Amino acid sequence: MRHVYLITLFVCVLTVSVLGFRETKFTAPPLDVFPEWIFPGMKYQPKLRPQSESAFFADGRADRMPVPRTVARGMLRDDDHLHHGKNAAGAFAAGFPAVLAGKVDLDFIRRGQGQFQIYCTPCHGVLGDGNGITKKYGMGATPTFHDPRIRTMPEGEIYNTIANGKNTMQGYADKIAPEDRWAVIAYVRALQRAQQGVAADVTDATAKQTLGLP
Ligand code: HEC
Repeated sequence: MRHVYLITLFVCVLTVSVLGFRETKFTAPPLDVFPEWIFPGMKYQPKLRPQSESAFFADGRADRMPVPRTVARGMLRDDDHLHHGKNAAGAFAAGFPAVLAGKVDLDFIRRGQGQFQIYCTPCHGVLGDGNGITKKYGMGATPTFHDPRIRTMPEGEIYNTIANGKNTMQGYADKIAPEDRWAVIAYVRALQRAQQGVAADVTDATAKQTLGLP
């Protein structure tokens, strides 16, 4: 008879443990079988949770700002020309940075085209003539890149406009990486050149190719 009680108890425990608490959501923390001083798990390590309070710091916040001038890994921007568009004298530099020597080719320009079409065409238009879609909505102050002033502007100054913006144009430092900004500039130069082409620019080879001649 004793066995019958035991087996019934066993079946009950088994049923409850397998089916009993399925899909039950617990809001209270689980029961600690072993107290902290016997079994100090990672759960009990001294730590500050995000956005919690802390009596340790004067401002009472657990979250700390990075110390001033902290530079994230791989983000050290120490090349005046590449990262700031400036020459050694601190003026806007003409031309492309030395580290990009040999890299400014058709692929580079295409990369710039991609970024330009994403970020710049809404205002400056696909031709860079200032006739983007935003003009239709009343933003008329977008300049054309074919203005002699911007055609002769040092590359470094265009870089500065892309990175930091100018007046009503916002900066793109958080969206376009430094090298890609130079790619955009290469494409801006290509757009400008495209509007200023002369017959002498076309070699016999490209003329034949365009006309489909052998
Ligand atoms: C939201 C609209 C808008 C977008 C997007 C935009 N621009 Fe502009 N951009 C302007 C306006 C407006 C000005 C005129 C600012 C001024 O001088 O008042 C301007 C000026 C410029 C100038 C001339 C600056 C000067 O010194 O006169 C350049 C070069 C330029 N933008 C490049 C770009 C490039 C490259 C992109 C894409 C990365 C871009 N812009 C994206 C609105 C825009």
